[in-house]
Amino acid sequence: MPKAKAVPQTPKSTDKSAKRRADQYNDPKYNYLHYWDGREYEHAAEEIAIRKLLHGRHFNNAVDVGGGYGRLCVQLEKYADKVTLAEPSQQQLDIAAKFLKDHPEIDRSLLQADDLKFADASIDLLTMIRVMHHLPDPSPEFAEISRVLSPEGYAIIEVANYAHMRNRLRHIAKRQRLPVKPVDIRSEANKRDDEIAFVNHNPATVIRQLEHAGLRVESTLSVSNLRSVRLKQIMPREIMLGAERLLQRPLASVYFGPSIFFLVRKV
Ligand SMILES: C[S@@+](CC[C@H](N)C(=O)[O-])C[C@H]1O[C@@H](n2cnc3c(N)ncnc32)[C@H](O)[C@@H]1O
Repeated sequence: MPKAKAVPQTPKSTDKSAKRRADQYNDPKYNYLHYWDGREYEHAAEEIAIRKLLHGRHFNNAVDVGGGYGRLCVQLEKYADKVTLAEPSQQQLDIAAKFLKDHPEIDRSLLQADDLKFADASIDLLTMIRVMHHLPDPSPEFAEISRVLSPEGYAIIEVANYAHMRNRLRHIAKRQRLPVKPVDIRSEANKRDDEIAFVNHNPATVIRQLEHAGLRVESTLSVSNLRSVRLKQIMPREIMLGAERLLQRPLASVYFGPSIFFLVRKV
C-alpha cells in the first residue's frame, strides 16, 4: 500500500457538494505499476488467495472493481468467460491498455465502485482488492456491489486489516480495545480532508457493513501473513510462499495478516 512519500495526490476540488470522484490515481507523478517492484511476495500471496477462493468455479461475467492497471484481471480470465476492468482513474486505464495488450478481450471501463452502471444481478464474479483502504465508509459501494451481483454470484472483497496480529499485541500491551471504526493511517502531512483517504478496517465491522447491504461472508483468508521487509531479505520467496499457502486458512479466524480476503455472496 503506498505510504506517505509515494501516495497519489488528490486533485483539488472546490465543489464540496459534488459527488467525490475517485480520481486520485490520475496523479502523473505516481505510477502504481512501480509500487509492485519488490512486492512479488505480496502479489503472489494474493494470487494464491484468489486461487483458493475460486478453485473449481467458473463464471460468465467477472468485474475487477478498482482494478488499477489490471494486475489481477489476467488471473480472473482463468475463471470467467468475460472480464471487465472497472476503474475510476483514466491514468490507470491508460497503463492498463499497455499492461493488458496481449489480452484484448478484457474490457476496460471508467467506473467507480458506488456507481457501476451494470444491470441488476448481471455480474457473477466481482473482485475489489486493495480498494477498501480508500473507503472509510464503504456502505454505498457495498450497496452497489449487492445490486449488480447475481443471486448465484460471488464477490471477493479484500480488507486492509487493522486487527492484524501486530496491532492486536500492541493494543493488548497498552490495555486498549481494538477500534471498531476505520483507522486513518495517513502521515500527519497527508491528513488534510482533501487528501486521499487511507484507512485500515476492523474486519468485524466490515462483516456487519456487508450484512447491511445484503451480503454474507462465506469464506475468509488471512493474506500476506509474512509481509516484512526483513523477512523478505533473508527468506527465499518460495519458502515464504509455501508457508503462505499453508497459513492463509488457519490464520483467518484470528485475522492474523495485514490483508483479509472475504468471499461474499448475496444473502
Ligand atoms: C491500491 S490500487 C489497487 C488496484 C488493484 N485493485 C490492485 O490490487 O492492483 C487502488 C485502486 O482503487 C481505485 N479506487 C479508489 N477509489 C475507488 C472507488 N471509490 N471506486 C473504485 N475504485 C477506486 C484507484 O483508482 C486505484 O486504482
